Order: sequence, then C-alpha cells, then structure tokens
Amino acid sequence: MNQGIKVVKIALLGLGTVGSGVYKLIEEKGEEFEKRTGAKIQIEKILVHNLKKERPGVKKCLLTDQWKEIIENDEIELVIEVMGGIEPAKAMILEALNAGKNVVTANKDLVAEHGKELFEAAERNQKDFLFEAAVAGGIPIIRPLKQCLAGNEISDVIGIVNGTTNYILTKMCEEGMDFQEALAKATELGYAEADPTADIEGYDAGRKVAIMASIAFHSRVVFSDVYTEGITKITAKDIAYAKEFDSVIKLLGAAHNTEKGIEVAVYPMMISNQHPLASVRDSFNAVFVHGDAVDDAMFYGRGAGELPTASAIVGDVLDVVRNMEYGCTGRIGCGCYRETQVKSIADVKNKFFLRMQVTNQSGVLASIANVFGKHKVSIERIIQKDVEKEKAELVIVTEYVKEGYLQEALDELMQMPILEEISSKIRVY
Ligand code: NAP
Ligand code: HSE
Repeated sequence: MNQGIKVVKIALLGLGTVGSGVYKLIEEKGEEFEKRTGAKIQIEKILVHNLKKERPGVKKCLLTDQWKEIIENDEIELVIEVMGGIEPAKAMILEALNAGKNVVTANKDLVAEHGKELFEAAERNQKDFLFEAAVAGGIPIIRPLKQCLAGNEISDVIGIVNGTTNYILTKMCEEGMDFQEALAKATELGYAEADPTADIEGYDAGRKVAIMASIAFHSRVVFSDVYTEGITKITAKDIAYAKEFDSVIKLLGAAHNTEKGIEVAVYPMMISNQHPLASVRDSFNAVFVHGDAVDDAMFYGRGAGELPTASAIVGDVLDVVRNMEYGCTGRIGCGCYRETQVKSIADVKNKFFLRMQVTNQSGVLASIANVFGKHKVSIERIIQKDVEKEKAELVIVTEYVKEGYLQEALDELMQMPILEEISSKIRVY
C-alpha cells in the first residue's frame, strides 16, 4: 500500500445475496479500486441478524449484530444498506446521514415510500445518498436519468423491471409452462422475493417505476401513486392470442409525463414483437426512455442477482469515495423541484384486448357494440372463436379509451344476460 494513501472505512448492513456480492467485489478488486479512486476502501464492520450463520470466506472479526458499533464509530464514513425492508433500515440510514456518514442502498421499498425524508436528511448533512441498485439491479438507470439525460425533457419511461415475472411470462410463452411451475423455477433460481407476492402482483415493479418517474419528471411519485396489476390472471389462451397478433405479453412499468399530469402504472401489456422491449427474455430487465433531445434510448441487462446488483452498489461506492476526496459529497440531490399531479387511472387512456364468453344468438354483437358506443369505447377489431351451439368466445380490441369509460361499459355489460364472463382484459401497448 502507498504510504499516506487515504483509507475510507465502510460498513455493510446486511450480508445476504447482495451484501455477499458487495463483500466479494471489494475484497477481490480492492487494489484496482484503489488505483481508480486514489483511496483504499476498507470494510470495517458488517451488521447481520444471525451471528451464528456460517459465512464462508468472510472474516469473522468484521461481523456484528450491534448497530451501535457502526453508528458510534466516527471513522466509518460510508454505510451500505443491503438488509431490505422499511425498519430498522430507515432509522439506521437516517441516523447514519445525521451522523455525517454517506449512504448507499439497494432498498427500493424504502426509496419509493420514504425517499423525501431520506433525501432531505442527506441534503441537510451534505452527504451522498445513492441508490443505483434499487432499480433494475445491475443496469445503470438512476445515474443516466439524473445525469447523462439531464439535458432532456423526458416524457416516457417504460420498463421491464421485475426479473421474476419476465422469467415466468417467457417460460409460459416459449415453453408452454404453467404459471405455478414457472414461479417455482424462478424461486429456485433466486429471482423471486422471499414472499413472491411483491413480484407477481406488480408491487416490486411499482416501487421501481415510482423511483424512475420521480427522477425523470422532477416531481415526487410514491409507490401509492402507482396503479398496479400483476400477472396472475394471464392464461395460456391470452398468450396464444398475443402470438396470433404478432405480440408478446410483458409486465410493464409505464410512466408518462403528459400535459394533464403524470401517468404511472404497472400492468401486463400485449406488446408488438417489433418493439425492442418484446425481445427482453428470461430474467433480463430493460428500461426504454424517450427524451426530447436524445429521442429513444434503451438500457438492458441483469436486473437482479448477487454480482449484478453488487456491481451497481460498488459503482455508487466508488462515486462517493471520489466525491469525498474532492469535498463535494451531496452534490447531486433529489431533483424533485416540480409538483406535477399524478392522474387517476380512470383518466389514463389505453387500448384493450378483451376476451369474453357470450351467448351465441343474433343481436348479441349489436348489443355489445351499443353499450361500448354509449360509453365512448370505439372498437378496432372483433374476432369470434370457439363457437359452440349456445356460447361463443368474443375477442375485442378497442381503440385508445379512458380506462374509466371502458370500466363503465364493462360494468353495464356484466349486468346483461348475454354476457357470461369477461375472461381477460389486457392492455395493448
Ligand atoms: P437477503 O438475502 O435477505 O439478505 C438480507 C441481509 O440483511 C441478511 O444478511 C440479514 O442477516 C440482514 N438483516 C436483515 N434484517 C436485519 C436486521 N434487522 N439486523 C441486522 N441484519 C439484518 O436480501 P438481499 O436479496 O440481499 O436484498 C437486500 C436488499 O437489496 C433489499 O432491499 C432488496 O430489495 C435489494 N435488492 C436485491 C436484489 C437481489 O437480486 N437480491 C436486487 C436489487 C435490489 P442474516 O444473514 O443474519 O439473516
Ligand atoms: N425479485 C426482484 C426481481 C429482485 O425479480 O426482479 C430484484 O429487485
């Protein structure tokens, strides 16, 4: 080691999937990082829950289950939070910032729900609070939105930002696997959360899209602003129809900055095979951005896993270390200087694929078209299939319509004896 080189002491909060990846990268590439930043990064303490757990390759002397050994150690200048969950992570991050420590986190739940409080604490203390790993794991997207694309007015951010659901939909589409089997495989491969509800119901993607929308549109969007629908209702039949339409079904997180407010939602959508997001398969993630200057840009890569996520965290760590050297931590703050309204989902316009079971008799189509017309729903195409003696399956693709109007039409149809069931309602991108 060079005499006199600065040593930056850091603490890891958590040594699970992501924490272990960060530990490995810093241990294995420490000398390179020293050359890249001019400082030696030294892991001083690692906070864990269970001190008895076997952790091969990790120096035991670093482990602690006592937060005070970290917060009261003034030599620790940077804390990496990779425990997950809201508490105690939130309290620890706030304490760390208030104690003059910089913070790097992968915690999307926390940033999407309590970002304002955390950014304000970072700003007050002029410390870095960086979270590249919180959205789309290893894919650089926070820094591009905040810095590289800062010269743009960004109007659209659309992403496949949940690896588990993308894996499930890919397996259902390409191998005809059923939903439960694909979910079990995703869990086995370590993509899914411990409780996969957050993945399959779209909450995980919702948190990520809230974070991206806040940064892209300079206005705070929190998780509760995001309308979410998951993939549990997607059937093999829907997938077959998507193929017939030269499309695939993807769980998309979509944020648009319109003249009438921000639209932000997560739902499965049929997307044409011509769109670059259609070719994002397996557990890969991608984020598609449109800015007025850059035009279209897409970011693609691994959205989860030990080393891809650690890659994003270590990138943040090296940035903090460089900022510390130049005395400019906290130079890039939250950036939400606008207060743009988030639109109600009822006012968002989408195209819909509708699959319904109806009575097979004359006048049925006319009655349905009449209800749609009354509620301003215009029909792009109708297909009738699986006609039996008394029943038929009707597939309708609408033109763009306000979600509220479509729902009113469907509510009215549901009251009519000619409609047995609405089997699918999927948005079309
Ligand atoms: P994980 O495998 O469950 O690891 C969590 C770690 O935190 C464990 O080491 C656990 O200790 C420790 N921990 C939890 N609660 C604690 C407490 N109260 N006090 C002390 N230690 C505690 O989680 P992960 O998958 O690494 O995820 C960590 C964070 O990264 C989450 O915010 C997650 O959303 C985010 N993230 C994960 C991925 C991914 O691919 N996994 C990708 C992007 C972002 P023990 O080891 O003693 O149990
Ligand atoms: N469960 C998440 C996913 C992990 O499947 O994408 C990364 O946040």
